[in-house]
Amino acid sequence: MVMFKVSRVATTPIDGQKPGTSGLRKKVKVFMQPHYLHNFVQSTFNALSADKVRGATLVVSGDGRYYSKDAIQIIIKMSAANGVRRVWVGQNGLLSTPAVSAVMRERLGADGSKGSGAFILTASHNPGGPHEDFGIKYNMENGGPAPEVITDKIYENTKTIKEYLIAEDLPDVDISAIGITSFTGPEGQFDVDVFDSASDYVKLMKSIFDFQAIQKLLSSPSFTFCYDALHGVAGAYAKRIFVEELGAQESSLLNCVPKEDFGGGHPDPNLTYAKELVGEPPEFGAAADGDADRNMILGKRFFVTPSDSVAIIAANAVKAIPYFSDGLKGVARSMPTSAALDVVAQHLNLKFFEVPTGWKFFGNLMDAGMCSVCGEESFGTGSDHIREKDGIWAVLAWLSIIAYKNKDNLSGGKLVTVEDIVRQHWAIYGRHYYTRYDYENVDAGAAKDLMACLVKLQSDLTEVNKIVKGIRSDVSNVVNADEFEYKDPVDGSISKHQGIRYLFGDGSRLVFRLSGTGSEGATIRLYIEQYEKDPSKIGRDSQEALGPLVEVALKLSKMEEFTGRSAPTVIT
Ligand code: G6P
Repeated sequence: MVMFKVSRVATTPIDGQKPGTSGLRKKVKVFMQPHYLHNFVQSTFNALSADKVRGATLVVSGDGRYYSKDAIQIIIKMSAANGVRRVWVGQNGLLSTPAVSAVMRERLGADGSKGSGAFILTASHNPGGPHEDFGIKYNMENGGPAPEVITDKIYENTKTIKEYLIAEDLPDVDISAIGITSFTGPEGQFDVDVFDSASDYVKLMKSIFDFQAIQKLLSSPSFTFCYDALHGVAGAYAKRIFVEELGAQESSLLNCVPKEDFGGGHPDPNLTYAKELVGEPPEFGAAADGDADRNMILGKRFFVTPSDSVAIIAANAVKAIPYFSDGLKGVARSMPTSAALDVVAQHLNLKFFEVPTGWKFFGNLMDAGMCSVCGEESFGTGSDHIREKDGIWAVLAWLSIIAYKNKDNLSGGKLVTVEDIVRQHWAIYGRHYYTRYDYENVDAGAAKDLMACLVKLQSDLTEVNKIVKGIRSDVSNVVNADEFEYKDPVDGSISKHQGIRYLFGDGSRLVFRLSGTGSEGATIRLYIEQYEKDPSKIGRDSQEALGPLVEVALKLSKMEEFTGRSAPTVIT
């Protein structure tokens, strides 16, 4: 067995290593600076209790973006030096974010070992490549993102770090070959276990869904299916699940070979970036982001908003998905997500929670047995089977619902389509017209000023209504305006400044937030929503229906004045 020594390397703090909504994300060239990744990894080890490091089992993998392979070797060497007992690596360093969560919760080593934490190497939906983004985040034993107490501690540690530990003489491990490589260090044996990236995840999916029912749907002559992984890690799972397990045609997979630069594209599943899928519409289409935790659901020339998607899944889960056959414990959405889920929760008498943006808030509810299904407007949908959102799970949930709605109908007749399912849902629950305007990479100071101005305005509703009515007299009155604040019902922690809200008398909302996931400048997100209960008015074009509110939002916030932008970068 190869022996290794532990080196203590002197270092100094590096500015700006504060983890955002989902870990630390920076340009690759920033991560490649001497000591940059090392400082962050050591600061993470130092933020954990000793038993989560010494003798522990760590998962290290990611979406395969540029610099991942180098980063994995560095983290392996630092893990060895810090007394970690074994590192689990998905073959070729690939594990989707949901698969990491599944591995943390489900995988047992040959000796009964369980993962106690995970470094996930991803910048999610941000582009990859030598000039693009890299990212790293730490997940806990429950398979969910580290809570703020830990990420705050990591950040504090990055500001005072003086040295890190590394086994410099440990040879690089071949992560393309499945198998265990063992080494010996000052504290005994250290193993690197390279395993199949998909098998734990596939097993979990098979325990949740009725694969036979989905298989029948996929083989129906009137059903066409397409899945676009945008060259992210989802491709590694799509082939195994959709083609090998469910019998879909190989040709139904688009961009399913993971690439370090995502083929030069922007691996974010929305109508702007998942263009190929939008161009050639099948009966059912879906797309994923770089690390496969996001999803976009499409019918034939029909876009399902993520806010509607989670509501429709919640409304149908008990009948269509075996995992939920005993009922739902509760449902939850993030604040900027539309209230479509609220209406389902009221109808079905389900516990309901509104949390700040960020998946970690759902995890607490799930660990406490209070929530089964949750979702966010940012193309994230999931359930308590793991503690991350799950792109392929969402696709399987939709396929299950379509299969259920067509169960007596699969031998060639006209199918109930995605569009039919959504329209039927609106007819029962009403429709939440919804859109999001993103202003990406604007000047950070200007974005801050815009937000400050909106907060200041909130102190005088009479003044707000005067301005609003001056812009459009046909919108309802603003009845409340605040900054969203959340008290976690499980641990009592309070999260402040989670988005600026303007709430209208007819249930419409305008929400302004600064993105927590960008790597350069600031991104302003404007969320616009309007509820329509009248069945004769639910079929309008969404941009047209929301036109008056959009006008109010842009003028009220003086968007162009502050940002110099006359139009958003992306509309979803
Ligand atoms: C990540 C998180 C989501 C969150 C999203 C928001 O994907 O996992 O929970 O909704 O970021 O991103 P933003 O850029 O709006 O902060």
